[in-house]
Amino acid sequence: MTGLDAIRGNGAWIETSDGNRYLDLAAGIATCNLGHSHPAVIAAVLHQMEQVIHLGGVCGHRPMYDLADRLAGITPDSIERFLFSTTGSEANEAALRVARAATGRTGVVCFRGSFHGRTQGALAATTSKAAFRMGLGSGGAHVAPFPRPDELGISEQEAAAHALGELDQLHRHQLAPEETACYVIEPVQGQGGCHPAGADFLAGLRERADQHGALLIFDEIQTGMGRTGEWFAAQTYGVDPDVITMAKAIGGGFPLSSLGARAEVMDAMRPGDHGSTFGGNPVSCAAALAGIDAMEAEDLPAHARELGAAALARLGDLADRHPQLSARGLGLMIGVEVLDPDAREADPTLAAAIESAVREEGVLLIRSGPDGNVIRVLPPLVITDDELDMALGAIEKAAEAACRGGSRD
Ligand SMILES: Cc1ncc(COP(=O)(O)O)c(C=O)c1O
Repeated sequence: MTGLDAIRGNGAWIETSDGNRYLDLAAGIATCNLGHSHPAVIAAVLHQMEQVIHLGGVCGHRPMYDLADRLAGITPDSIERFLFSTTGSEANEAALRVARAATGRTGVVCFRGSFHGRTQGALAATTSKAAFRMGLGSGGAHVAPFPRPDELGISEQEAAAHALGELDQLHRHQLAPEETACYVIEPVQGQGGCHPAGADFLAGLRERADQHGALLIFDEIQTGMGRTGEWFAAQTYGVDPDVITMAKAIGGGFPLSSLGARAEVMDAMRPGDHGSTFGGNPVSCAAALAGIDAMEAEDLPAHARELGAAALARLGDLADRHPQLSARGLGLMIGVEVLDPDAREADPTLAAAIESAVREEGVLLIRSGPDGNVIRVLPPLVITDDELDMALGAIEKAAEAACRGGSRD
């Protein structure tokens, strides 16, 4: 929490109860891709509320059927069937159930630094924060390394080969391939510190999933809906998953999540095997449909790709001038990691100093990473060139001052 109370949001801006306005680089943690209070979403929601608000799975309804069709058109080609729920955690719980039902196996492999949610199954596959796992033990999920080229000082290809080699060792010593139901991965880790998995690593996972008869699950709850420069990061990377989970931006700001899967995978669940009272709520589905139309009309995935590439280059230049900083990301999902350059250790104090100096300039951002030392740039995708220019200028100014002065005053 930032400690701010918002009273109004419009486009990429938030107005707070203390009378300030902030350019929002958090976007409800990658949820408000369309910005705040998009008129198309408001109109669709008002209309739907006059038709029917809630059905709770007792009856089907047009907005849900239309949304499934619409998602089939924008998700990777492999994804054909959809199940609707309310939160990201719930979609991931469903993904694990579906994977176990479809393979008849129980083993789950997740990747170090992952965040898949705060419910028990999703938590078991979450390693980005020790506190999240308190009392859960291993929870039945096996943890393999996620490629970390920066940390190891090696290339993306070398880091992929290293992490895949470790996964092969995990299969050799801990979890046999024939016991493995699925690999579950964020194509770009969010909470873990904004780490892109890279195309080579995801292709290597695809190969192993095919070879071992396991399913590849992409958690696109944060990377989806245009954020990484295509509708989904699977398309940015050119790797098709068997199962995809979506939430956050899918509902245009309304609570909605979805699990998409190959038909034969979803067919492993029989009618009545799974459900959720508010899953596929008509108002949320109507908001989602209007949101997807607006994103398409405004070509937001391409906008994210172009602005994201320019922003990453600019933040990369900033990092080149300061040994404390490094920048990485994909599309408009960018992280600036802050380290103590001598100890090569996380410097959350310096990161916090930059965050609060940026806030003084009227720009709202948040941090991530297990040590809270990664500054996140996650603006609404409707942000304009000028707005992003202002935000990056504020980050540059704050970082230059903080890195020159140090944080320990
Ligand atoms: C990649 C990812 N998966 C799952 C979740 C959990 O979603 P929710 O908070 O809606 O349960 C999040 C939330 O931040 C996320 O970023």
